[in-house]
Amino acid sequence: MEIIVQETAEQASMLAARLIAKTISDKPDAVLGLPTGSTPLPLYKELIRIHKEENLDFSSVTSFNLDEYLGLGPEHPQSYHHFMYENLFNHINIPAENINIPDGLTENVPSFCNGYEQKIKDKGGIDIQLLGIGSDGHIGFNEPSSSLTSRTRIKTLTPNTIKDNARFFENESAVPRHVITMGLGTVMESRECILLAFGEAKAEAVRQSVEGPLCAMVPASVLQMHNRSRFFIDAEAASKLEKVEYYNWVFSNKPAWQQFEK
Ligand code: F6R
Repeated sequence: MEIIVQETAEQASMLAARLIAKTISDKPDAVLGLPTGSTPLPLYKELIRIHKEENLDFSSVTSFNLDEYLGLGPEHPQSYHHFMYENLFNHINIPAENINIPDGLTENVPSFCNGYEQKIKDKGGIDIQLLGIGSDGHIGFNEPSSSLTSRTRIKTLTPNTIKDNARFFENESAVPRHVITMGLGTVMESRECILLAFGEAKAEAVRQSVEGPLCAMVPASVLQMHNRSRFFIDAEAASKLEKVEYYNWVFSNKPAWQQFEK
C-alpha cells in the first residue's frame, strides 16, 4: 500500500491521471474500472486534456463502472450513466461498445450481475481500478459489513450514504435506496487500485482504511491486502493519519525508475 499525499486535490489528481495515461500508452487496450462522484472530476478533466492536447488514444480502451443506482435509466440526470458521459465519455474517443456500466433498469438483477462479472473476465480483468471512498469507508457501494470477497450484486445504501449523496438530488427521499455495485472481491482482482480521497470529510475513513485493522466495517481497508494499491490524497484527507511523515518520506525517496513520469 502506498500513501501519496499532495497539498491539493488538483495536484493529487494530476499525478493519478498521469499514471492512468501511462498505463493506456503502454497498453492501448487497457481495461479501466471507474467511479463517479465529486472525487474523480479533476482527474477526468485532466484525462480529457491529455486526450485533446497530447493525443492520448482511448479507441481500444474498455471501461467498467463500479456502480449504478437501481431504478434510474441512462437518461436520468442523476444516473451514473449520465454522469460518465457528461464528465468523461463524451469528451474522449472511447467507443460506445467498450463502455460498461451496470444497468439500473435491469429486471433480473442477479443474472445481470453474473453477466457483468463474466464480461470483466472475458476482457482479461481490470488493469487499473480507480476508486473514491465514502465517509463511512465504502468503495464502490460496498457499504460497511460488505463481505470482503463479495462480487457484483445489489446493495442497500446506508442512511449515511443517502444523506451524503442527497446533494445531487432534489431531496434525500429522491435518492434511490438500492444500487448495483461491483463487489470487494471484484475490485481486489484488478491488477492495480488507485484510491482518491479529498477533503476533511474523508480523513477519518482514510485513517481507518490505512492505519486501522482490516475489517468489513471499513470496506476500503480490504485494500491493505492488495499487492498494488495506492492512495492519492490531499492534505485535508491525510490530516488524521499518524504516520504521514513516513509516507511523505517514502514518496520523496523513491528511486528514479519508480517515479511516475512517462
Ligand atoms: C461511486 C463510488 C463511490 C464514491 C464515494 C465517494 O461510483 O464508487 O464509492 O466514490 O461515495 O463519493 P464522492 O466522490 O462524491 O465523495
